[in-house]
Amino acid sequence: MLVAFSGNVAKVRQLAIDETYQGRGIGTEIMKRAEQAILARNIRTVMLHGRVTARGFFERLGYAARSGVFTEVTIPHIAMQKRPYRRLNMLIRLYFNDPQGKW
Ligand SMILES: CC(C)(COP(=O)(O)OP(=O)(O)OC[C@H]1O[C@@H](n2cnc3c(N)ncnc32)[C@H](O)[C@@H]1OP(=O)(O)O)[C@@H](O)C(=O)NCCC(=O)NCCS
Repeated sequence: MLVAFSGNVAKVRQLAIDETYQGRGIGTEIMKRAEQAILARNIRTVMLHGRVTARGFFERLGYAARSGVFTEVTIPHIAMQKRPYRRLNMLIRLYFNDPQGKW
């Protein structure tokens, strides 16, 4: 997992869990720790290019699609984004009845 910073945006790159260890919560934990580190730098937006097959995984973490499907290193990807203002996100989700943070 890599995090690249550009201005006020952090880009998460190359998240991959060994097949043997998938489905044990490791990907979620790594993403949460990365977001904590990003928040600690006062970066307000996190984006990534996720494999289309992992879209549901990132949606569960509050990321929303920000593009159509495009090919990157021969694999179909989609751009996704999250604004990790914790308290504000929570209020927005409650207000708009938006549990997956698609707002
Ligand atoms: C996608 C990936 C990073 C997820 O990591 P992981 O450690 O297996 O995921 P977790 O165990 O934290 O999963 C958390 C939840 O998301 C779900 N989930 C995992 N992968 C998913 C996927 N591809 N689509 C939808 N939901 C998914 C899990 O079922 C789990 O749900 P549960 O809590 O109800 O059991 C991992 O499967 C992976 O490395 N895949 C191959 C490479 C890849 O796609 N990388 C990311 C895109 S660039």
